Amino acid sequence: MLGKLLLPLLAPAVAASYVAKPQAPQDSNTCIVEPATNGSDSAPAIRDAFARCGHNADANDRGKVVFKNETYHIQSVMNTTGLRNVDVDLQGTLLWDQNIPYWLNHSLPVGYQNQSSAWLFGGENVHWDGHGYGTLDGNGQVWYDFVNGTNNYPGRPHQITVTGSRDSVFQGIRFVQSQMWTVTIIHSENILMEDIYVNSTDTKQEVGFDFSSLNTDGADTVYANNITFRRWVVDNGDDSIAMKANSTNILIEDCRFHTGLGIAIGSIGQYDGEFETIENVTARNIQILDKMRYGVYVKTWTGRSAGYPPNGGGGGLGYAANMTFQNFTLEGATGIFAVTQCTSYNDATGGCDTSEFHIRDLVLEDWHGTAVSDVVAAVQCSAARPCTGIEIRDIDIVDTVNGTAPASYLCDNVDGPKGFACTGPTWEENNR
Ligand SMILES: *[C@@H]1O[C@H](CO)[C@@H](O)[C@H](O)[C@H]1NC(C)=O
Ligand SMILES: *[C@@H]1O[C@H](CO)[C@@H](O)[C@H](O)[C@H]1NC(C)=O
Ligand SMILES: *[C@@H]1O[C@H](CO)[C@@H](O)[C@H](O)[C@H]1NC(C)=O
Ligand SMILES: *[C@@H]1O[C@H](CO)[C@@H](O)[C@H](O)[C@H]1NC(C)=O
Ligand SMILES: *[C@@H]1O[C@H](CO)[C@@H](O)[C@H](O)[C@H]1NC(C)=O
Ligand SMILES: *[C@@H]1O[C@H](CO)[C@@H](O)[C@H](O)[C@H]1NC(C)=O
Ligand SMILES: *[C@@H]1O[C@H](CO)[C@@H](O)[C@H](O)[C@H]1NC(C)=O
Ligand SMILES: *[C@@H]1O[C@H](CO)[C@@H](O)[C@H](O)[C@H]1NC(C)=O
Ligand SMILES: *[C@@H]1O[C@H](CO)[C@@H](O)[C@H](O)[C@H]1NC(C)=O
Ligand SMILES: *[C@@H]1O[C@H](CO)[C@@H](O)[C@H](O)[C@H]1NC(C)=O
Ligand SMILES: *[C@@H]1O[C@H](CO)[C@@H](O)[C@H](O)[C@H]1NC(C)=O
Ligand SMILES: *[C@@H]1O[C@H](CO)[C@@H](O)[C@H](O)[C@H]1NC(C)=O
Repeated sequence: MLGKLLLPLLAPAVAASYVAKPQAPQDSNTCIVEPATNGSDSAPAIRDAFARCGHNADANDRGKVVFKNETYHIQSVMNTTGLRNVDVDLQGTLLWDQNIPYWLNHSLPVGYQNQSSAWLFGGENVHWDGHGYGTLDGNGQVWYDFVNGTNNYPGRPHQITVTGSRDSVFQGIRFVQSQMWTVTIIHSENILMEDIYVNSTDTKQEVGFDFSSLNTDGADTVYANNITFRRWVVDNGDDSIAMKANSTNILIEDCRFHTGLGIAIGSIGQYDGEFETIENVTARNIQILDKMRYGVYVKTWTGRSAGYPPNGGGGGLGYAANMTFQNFTLEGATGIFAVTQCTSYNDATGGCDTSEFHIRDLVLEDWHGTAVSDVVAAVQCSAARPCTGIEIRDIDIVDTVNGTAPASYLCDNVDGPKGFACTGPTWEENNR
């Protein structure tokens, strides 16, 4: 009991500094998780640690869950939600196993797009520190091989879903070889995630536009408000960070993105007749490296509903508004900026003019570096709801094909472009 009795006195220093204290794990609200022997499943011990030390009524008497500098094999789903006033001290590695039939059968519902997850995690006043080396390893290569290019394979798990969370901080965590999406933040607000490293690289199949590490998004926000992503490094085969339905007050800053598709607004407008929004997004001081597809792109479903999520849908309503993308440095990006309102069932074509989802007040400013493209922006908006308030200024990019500044601004249904003149319509339908 000694540790528990001392905690109130020490609380401010302890919360800030993570001084290791010798404590009997059973007797205090610090739980040190012991890895299961012989590489068997550590998930029961982890569930137990959060159950015992993760629910603390008193903000001044926080609990703590400690992962030692060892490898914890994870062979079953975890649902550690409803936590309160707890610190998570991740010193080691959580390594998911390769039992595809188990995960396809047992992954937990995320509550959006029929997506599912290996770990539902959440609560209030949670402070998770990985110290720059604590790691979640999804062992994703088996999944990249298994899905073989199938988009949103049913039951394929996200690595971790932060759900029902507020007033929480996640820092210094490494996420490697995610099974699918990496961190999904849903039904949450006031979350800070900083100094995060994500790398989901297919080491067998070459990354191209038929992505080998398809669907390995770095982070996705859904029904999320006031979320900050600071100092992320993401190297993957899909969206670096994506904002989906009802994402508001999102700040992304001082990040480096490699290989993937860029920052995504959407896809959105997938649920027929539902009203969803994305509002108040700022991304600034961003590096776009290693043949990324875009710096930023925006995608909505068409106005026609066909099929069901995740790969079908359409007919959604709402708007994406007040988005600012400032100080982007590109190195060899294959594209720069795009909007498409053509997303539809299994990449079907047509209906690009039908979406009633409104894209407005989007500013690109101070973008520089190099790209392999003559097109600064390909902005395909729906005739049913033209884009308004699109502003592009201070672009200083060199097209490395011939050393000139990209000169094309392709527009469909862009009302009152600011800072640029449209040079013609988009060249082709872009359905993803
Ligand atoms: C670990 O595995 C070995 C061989 O598979 C077995 O002999 C041993 O009893 C196991 N130890 C424990 C603690 O389960
Ligand atoms: C963790 O353990 C490994 C060896 O298992 C060691 O190389 C590393 O330095 C340790 N890290 C910390 C932070 O103690
Ligand atoms: C899948 O789930 C069903 C029903 O829960 C069960 O009967 C079956 O054994 C499971 N299969 C695997 C591979 O876990
Ligand atoms: C996760 O646990 C919470 C709290 O016990 C429960 O309400 C929720 O239904 C669980 N979610 C799933 C998908 O099992
Ligand atoms: C992956 O799919 C392609 C066709 O799209 C097929 O040729 C190939 O054999 C498949 N690979 C595996 C490992 O199933
Ligand atoms: C937004 O979240 C941060 C924590 O990341 C918090 O400090 C801040 O007070 C929140 N803002 C509002 C308006 O609640
Ligand atoms: C990601 O991992 C791959 C393969 O291990 C490596 O080549 C690449 O440099 C890593 N990317 C970053 C940004 O660390
Ligand atoms: C999304 O936001 C809209 C507009 O604020 C609201 O009407 C709708 O209920 C929200 N949807 C969900 C599922 O929270
Ligand atoms: C737009 O969003 C930014 C934060 O991203 C906020 O500072 C600004 O006040 C918002 N503008 C309007 C008009 O709401
Ligand atoms: C967007 O930011 C403005 C200015 O801070 C604020 O008044 C407005 O409520 C925010 N919108 C949303 C949806 O949070
Ligand atoms: C622009 O972003 C770079 C990082 O990509 C940073 O070093 C630089 O200070 C930023 N410039 C401004 C004016 O914030
Ligand atoms: C540079 O190359 C692009 C093709 O990427 C071409 O459209 C453009 O006309 C070229 N500009 C000059 C000045 O040659």
